[in-house]
Amino acid sequence: MKVEVEESGNVVGTLLMPMFEDACSITDIDSDGVEQSLIEMMNHVISNGDFKAKAGTTLTIHNLAGKAILMGLGKSKDFSTDSAREAGASLVSKRGKQHGTEFTARLTSLSDEQAAAFIEGALLRDYKYNEYKSKDDEEDDDEDIVLHAQTANDVAALSAASDNAAHIATGVHLARDLGNAPPNDLYPMAYAEQAIAWGKGKDNVEVSVIEYAEAQKLGMGGLCAVGMGSDRKPCMVTFDLNPSAKGQPPVIVGKGITFDTGGISIKPSPSMDEMKYDMHGSATVFGLMQALWASGHQGHVVGISCMAENMPASNAQRPGDVITTMSGKTVEVLNTDAEGRLVLSDGLWKAAEYDPAWIIDLATLTGAVVVALGHEATGMWCNDDDLAKRIQNSGDACGELIWPMPLLPAFEKEMKDSKIADLRNIGSTRWGGSNTAAAYLKQFVQTRGEGDDEKQIPWAHLDIAGTAWGAKTNKMVSHGATGIHVRALHHMITKD
Ligand code: BES
Ligand code: MN
Ligand code: ZN
Repeated sequence: MKVEVEESGNVVGTLLMPMFEDACSITDIDSDGVEQSLIEMMNHVISNGDFKAKAGTTLTIHNLAGKAILMGLGKSKDFSTDSAREAGASLVSKRGKQHGTEFTARLTSLSDEQAAAFIEGALLRDYKYNEYKSKDDEEDDDEDIVLHAQTANDVAALSAASDNAAHIATGVHLARDLGNAPPNDLYPMAYAEQAIAWGKGKDNVEVSVIEYAEAQKLGMGGLCAVGMGSDRKPCMVTFDLNPSAKGQPPVIVGKGITFDTGGISIKPSPSMDEMKYDMHGSATVFGLMQALWASGHQGHVVGISCMAENMPASNAQRPGDVITTMSGKTVEVLNTDAEGRLVLSDGLWKAAEYDPAWIIDLATLTGAVVVALGHEATGMWCNDDDLAKRIQNSGDACGELIWPMPLLPAFEKEMKDSKIADLRNIGSTRWGGSNTAAAYLKQFVQTRGEGDDEKQIPWAHLDIAGTAWGAKTNKMVSHGATGIHVRALHHMITKD
C-alpha cells in the first residue's frame, strides 16, 4: 500500500467518508472537491435515514460522477484510537472489486492521533500470504492500493506518523510471513539463513548463528535435546542492532520451534498442522528487528531466536531423560512436548551475556494460556513491577492486549520438585500449566549485584499461544499468523 498524506481537496479514485453517528451530515470541508451530484446523493441517503453512521456500517454510493463509501464510526464519545485503527483496517477488508485500488480518505473528522491510527490499521490489514499460490491471471487483487489520506491539520506531522507506521508494518508483515511459512520450508537453519541474508548490507546490524555443533560445545543442552531428533538440526540466531550504541540493550528472546509434533510424547493429530506457528516468538523477534531497523532506531537492541524442530525419532530425547542446560542446571524431561521451555532455558541464560536493561521472552508456550485468555490477550509473567507496567501500557497503546498473570513461589517450588534433577519440565499436576511453565523459565534468568544487592535481571515472559494465530477478533489480520507484539515492543523500545 502506498499512502499519500495531503490537504483536503482533490478526490482521486473512490472517496471514503468516515462519519460519526452524532455528526452524520456532509459539511463544507467534506464536500471540498467532491462532485455536486455525489454530494447530493450522499445527503439524500443520510436524510432518508438509509445511512446513520452506526459503527461498522458502510454504504457505497455510485453515480456517473464517481464512487463514495460512507463509513459509520458510531458515537464520537465511544470512538478511540483502537476504533480508528479498526476503521482503517476495515477499509481494506471490506473493499470490493468495484471500489478499485485508489482511495481518497477524508479524515477531517478525526483527531491527529486517530487519523494516524486509521492509516496504521489500513497498512497492517493490507497483507496476504500468497507465497504458495499459483498465479491466476484473472486475479487483479494483487495490485497495490493507493490511499490518499486527507487531513485538515498538520500534513507534515501526519505524514511522518504514516511513514513510521509503514516502516513498522514491514516488520509485522515479515513476522506473519515467517509464522505462515510451511514447516517443510521454514526449518531452523532456513530461518538462520534468512536472518543472515537480511543482515547483509545493513551497516548497523550483526546477525550471528550458533549452529548445532557449536551449541553442543557451548553446553546448550536444552536447545540440543529438543532439536536432536530432527534431521534439520537446531541453532540459535542472534540479531544485534546498533551494537556500538551506548547503554544497556533490551534483549528479546523468542521460542522458535519450526514444527512441534510433541516429540516422543507425540501430540494428537487434529490441528497438528497449527504447530507450524510454534516459532512465532522467533517470528516476532525477527519482525521487531526489521521494524526497528526500518524506522531508524538508534539504540542497541538484541534479539535471540532459539530454533529447533521437535520430532519423534530414534535419536530424539525421551521422557525420563535428564539434560544439562547451559546454566549448569539439570532438568528431568518428563514430557517431550514441553519443549519450548527447554530451548528458552539456554536462550534466557545467554541473554544475560549482554548485560541487558531488561529481557522479554515471547513464546507460544502453553495450550493452557489459550484456555485462560482465549485469543484476546497475551499472558505476562514478570519479576519487576515497573517493567510489567511498561509492557502493559505499550500493549494498550497498540491494541495488543497483554494481561498480568501470577509468578507465584508455589509454582517455582513445584518445578524444582524433581526426584533426580534440579528441575522438572512439567508441573506435577495439569493445573495452572501456564504458571508452572513461567516459574520454570524464571530459573534461567540470571542475577546481578553482590550480597544484599543481588537481584534478578528485570524479565518478562509473554505467552503468545493464543494471540499469535487464529485470533478471529484481531481486525488487523484476516487469518493465520498475526505478527503479534512487533508493534507493542517497537512502541516500548522507541517511545517509552
Ligand atoms: N507449542 C505448544 C503449546 C501450544 C498449544 C501452542 C496450543 C499453541 C496452541 C507447547 O510446546 C506444548 O506442547 N505445551 C504443552 C505443555 C504440556 C506438555 C505441559 C501443552 O500446552 O499442552
Ligand atoms: Mn510442545
Ligand atoms: Zn511447542
